[in-house]
Amino acid sequence: MLFADSARAEAESIMNELSNLCRIMTPVVIVIVLAGCTDGQDLTSNRADASNPDIVARGEVVYQESCASCHGVNLEGQANWTLRNADGTLPAPPHDVTGHTWHHGDELLFELTKWGPSAVVGNDYNSAMPGFSDTLDDDDIWAVLAYIKSRWPDEVRAAQSAR
Ligand code: HEC
Repeated sequence: MLFADSARAEAESIMNELSNLCRIMTPVVIVIVLAGCTDGQDLTSNRADASNPDIVARGEVVYQESCASCHGVNLEGQANWTLRNADGTLPAPPHDVTGHTWHHGDELLFELTKWGPSAVVGNDYNSAMPGFSDTLDDDDIWAVLAYIKSRWPDEVRAAQSAR
């Protein structure tokens, strides 16, 4: 009797450990699967390569054509960008160090640019920024992000790359 109880207790504790292990392992497995889907591309926060002058030059062209109208020709953003407009949308923030862009890792910046903030945030979030999936290919998006990053001081770039 006693033996059966302790065997059951032991079995339960093994089951608990297994389910804890599953909880811990699931995100790990997902990350591994995602990494496998990108054909060996680097999933770290440094995919927008600001150290490559050719990519940065291409990104500057994309920026001036597709982003500067809202984010400013000099990345300065729109006035009072932290205050919402009457329709609930935010003005375009600066992409220089005075803004918020460098608080995000490359992957999130890519998603925001490709799909637009409304799609990334979800919950009917109302944003004035469109997604660029129809007009820019992925290399253009990485290039424009590389250009934006190239305009940050080294220490800000280092801080952002850890995100
Ligand atoms: C029509 C105006 C408009 C254009 C064009 C535009 N944006 Fe934006 N962008 C915005 C607004 C407004 C926001 C504020 C986000 C929100 O709605 O919450 C924003 C936010 C962002 C953010 C998030 C910044 C942060 O700190 O969270 C990124 C990244 C971004 N834009 C990149 C780009 C890039 C790259 C381009 C060009 C390919 C671009 N945007 C073109 C209006 C624009």
